[in-house]
Amino acid sequence: MKIGVIMGGTSTEREVSLQTGQEMLNHLDRSRYEVVPIVIDQPADLIAQVQQTDIDFALLALHGQYGEDGTVQGALETLGIPYTGSGVLASGLCMNKQLSKMLLKSAGVLTPAGLCWQGMGDYDQQAVEQLGYPVIVKPNMGGSSIGIQLVHNEKELHSAIQKACALDQTILVEPFIQGTELTCSIVDGEVLPIIRIRSAHSEWFDYKAKYETGGAEEKVIQLPPVIEQRVRETALASYRLLQCKVYARIDMILCQDVPYVLEVNTLPGMTANSLLPKSAAAAGITFTQLLDRIITSSLH
Ligand code: DAL
Ligand code: MG
Repeated sequence: MKIGVIMGGTSTEREVSLQTGQEMLNHLDRSRYEVVPIVIDQPADLIAQVQQTDIDFALLALHGQYGEDGTVQGALETLGIPYTGSGVLASGLCMNKQLSKMLLKSAGVLTPAGLCWQGMGDYDQQAVEQLGYPVIVKPNMGGSSIGIQLVHNEKELHSAIQKACALDQTILVEPFIQGTELTCSIVDGEVLPIIRIRSAHSEWFDYKAKYETGGAEEKVIQLPPVIEQRVRETALASYRLLQCKVYARIDMILCQDVPYVLEVNTLPGMTANSLLPKSAAAAGITFTQLLDRIITSSLH
């Protein structure tokens, strides 16, 4: 089978995607697959390169818009090329934090309360103050924490919103829930060991903490059984509700033993510093085996 590792793209997470792609290229089992790297520099490249390389299957190493948001998935469906991970709808929903939070809430899954508006014009400072500082300002469809800011007071709010607006028309503001940051990965229906994240130099798990070596302590932890069960069930319920397939990583904050879902990532990072491969390794699954499972499960 000829596999194209599709990476790069035009989102703010291009660099992360190139690292994910490289890590996949390093670990794919070459005795099983013929492997072709496909670097996308603009959305139109995708179709041309998929056709030129004549691949049978697309291993998606893309993150963010035009990659993780259902657009590439739709193009591949149209071309009849099977691909890894979730389909068009789940990809689009999970990329959109506002909509995925609405669905999670409607199903009783806890997620931080949030305000949402379009651009600077609509921004309601009083409503933000009612949430109480600190708050987190997020571009609605971002990834890797790019454009996310922790805001401690009114003075910081305006510039944070301005920065987020430069990346997205829709802005989210959430209360900053003090608690333990956890992440829970699911591969082919199996919930992998839970990882606790402690950022080394920042108040939260920002871009540097995520990707710089030593930026965070990411440790597989054993929670008390009842809480562990709660976290695993919350992750699985979110995954199913949003109709994810094959694999995903669910990020949460545990506050007073209650998990709040921050987001569901349908193409989670697979760089050397990323969480899902660490969680898989803790379950005894090598990176090569993880890729095999993702590919096999995507073909079914
Ligand atoms: N958005 C990044 C790649 C992640 O979730 O790991
Ligand atoms: Mg994300």
